[in-house]
Amino acid sequence: MQFMSRLDLEAFDETPFAHVFERTAADGYALTTLAAERAIQPDADQRLYTMYYPVGLDVPLPGGARIDQTYEMWRKAMLENPNSDPAAIFIAKRGDEYVGLTSLELLKDGPAITSMTGVSAVHRGHGLALALKLLSFRYLKEHGYRETRAQNDTTNPPILRLNEKLGYQRLPGRLEWEKPLA
Ligand SMILES: CC(C)(COP(=O)(O)OP(=O)(O)OC[C@H]1O[C@@H](n2cnc3c(N)ncnc32)[C@H](O)[C@@H]1OP(=O)(O)O)[C@@H](O)C(=O)NCCC(=O)NCCS
Repeated sequence: MQFMSRLDLEAFDETPFAHVFERTAADGYALTTLAAERAIQPDADQRLYTMYYPVGLDVPLPGGARIDQTYEMWRKAMLENPNSDPAAIFIAKRGDEYVGLTSLELLKDGPAITSMTGVSAVHRGHGLALALKLLSFRYLKEHGYRETRAQNDTTNPPILRLNEKLGYQRLPGRLEWEKPLA
């Protein structure tokens, strides 16, 4: 089952979490955005997709579905979406390698939505998802957003725990049934 959850950005205080930036830096990670990477890496989009693809496969979805997008499908959904902004796609790097991202969908006159948070398997547990989400909240506050949302699957404890820790409140869930017709 999937459910949406919301975070009140006006009430959110990053202070209890901000120590994570020291941790990620001490572990050798840098945090940036796709907009900044495009300025120094001509193939930044392709490199981000290379990191995203296996992480996307790890996202649990209802009915065992998987995020299995070609580069073109991913570009259309994440980069060419009118509600996206390369300055709102946050990337974790280790050296030149992209190892994590958080991306936002910026609904006009509505809440923002985290469209994806993912960290390459070998780089998990260093606080990268937390740090990237904090950067995304800073962006949203600076751009006048008062609420951000996330939609997650009940079979995904890592992101559920992270979002609960940050103070997201659950909204009513969505149940889906599949009936094979043949
Ligand atoms: C979810 C995911 C992004 C977490 O990335 P991460 O960088 O390892 O997470 P962090 O190190 O920042 O962890 C922050 C907090 O999240 C929670 N958390 C992270 N991994 C967890 C796990 N395996 N089990 C339980 N809680 C977990 C904890 O509360 C953790 O805080 P703590 O370290 O103080 O206990 C990562 O597991 C991932 O990429 N999963 C596959 C993609 C996915 O499902 N994305 C979410 C849906 S879009």
